[in-house]
Amino acid sequence: MKNKTILITGGTTGIGLATAQLLQADGARIIVTGRNPDTLASARATLGKAAVVIASDSGSLADARALGSEVGKHASTIDGVFLNAGVGKFAPFQDHTPEEFESMFGINVRGLFFQLQSLLAILADPSSVVLNASVVAQLGFPGASIYSATKAAVVSLGKTLAVELAPRGIRVNTISPGPIATPIYNKLGMTPEAVKGFEDTMAAQSLLKRVGRADEIARAARFLLSEDSSYVTGSELLVDGGVRLT
Ligand SMILES: NC(=O)c1ccc[n+]([C@@H]2O[C@H](COP(=O)([O-])OP(=O)(O)OC[C@H]3O[C@@H](n4cnc5c(N)ncnc54)[C@H](OP(=O)(O)O)[C@@H]3O)[C@@H](O)[C@H]2O)c1
Repeated sequence: MKNKTILITGGTTGIGLATAQLLQADGARIIVTGRNPDTLASARATLGKAAVVIASDSGSLADARALGSEVGKHASTIDGVFLNAGVGKFAPFQDHTPEEFESMFGINVRGLFFQLQSLLAILADPSSVVLNASVVAQLGFPGASIYSATKAAVVSLGKTLAVELAPRGIRVNTISPGPIATPIYNKLGMTPEAVKGFEDTMAAQSLLKRVGRADEIARAARFLLSEDSSYVTGSELLVDGGVRLT
């Protein structure tokens, strides 16, 4: 990844930060986004001065549409983007609110869509776009009706955009992680006991009998962002420990 400039949305914690660290160690120039001032500050400390850390709320249409010009202040072109920022709130179907629907679709789908649209002007020809969806798009996972629907939308976008952007040499691929131990578990709206139970259940349901690590998704993202995947586009790479098969 030497001399490549890579943008990672939601690069301040979890999978995004692990990917930023991996690519930085490989010699890439990293730009990350986030919205929480605390995690933005800790990402600045972790990634150091060589990285650019931008406050940009994926849930704000204005921020999403301005992302290309914001990134353009730091890099005239980018070689790849990992559209990774995302949120999940789990609840029984009957309890989900319109606010949760708007928030999850606003961040996970609308944000991703208009961020990529705004980045078209600075994406190099060729370059690589990687979307972060989830294995839940393929499952009937209780409590995850809205979240899973947002991720199914992301999987679908990955296919259409691969076709539309191919004439420019822009590859578009999707990663669908299984359960990965990251701070997102503590944001799902569950008690700490419920989170522990969720983690144990997911580990038991996976063929590999454990949840995954953020660096395992980072390495999959690196493959899709790098020349190693130069003939791969429109694909969905499941990195889920086999949970979809149980
Ligand atoms: N962990 C899993 O089991 C799993 C499985 C499948 C898919 N995924 C997907 O993987 C992606 C990363 O999740 P993670 O597990 O690494 O969780 P995480 O640690 O909570 O990371 C989420 C990242 O997205 C950012 N983000 C969230 N909302 C944002 C917004 N409105 N604007 C800008 N940035 C925002 C967060 O920044 P702030 O701190 O600023 O909010 C953070 O950097 C998500 O799309 C998630 O759906 C995760």
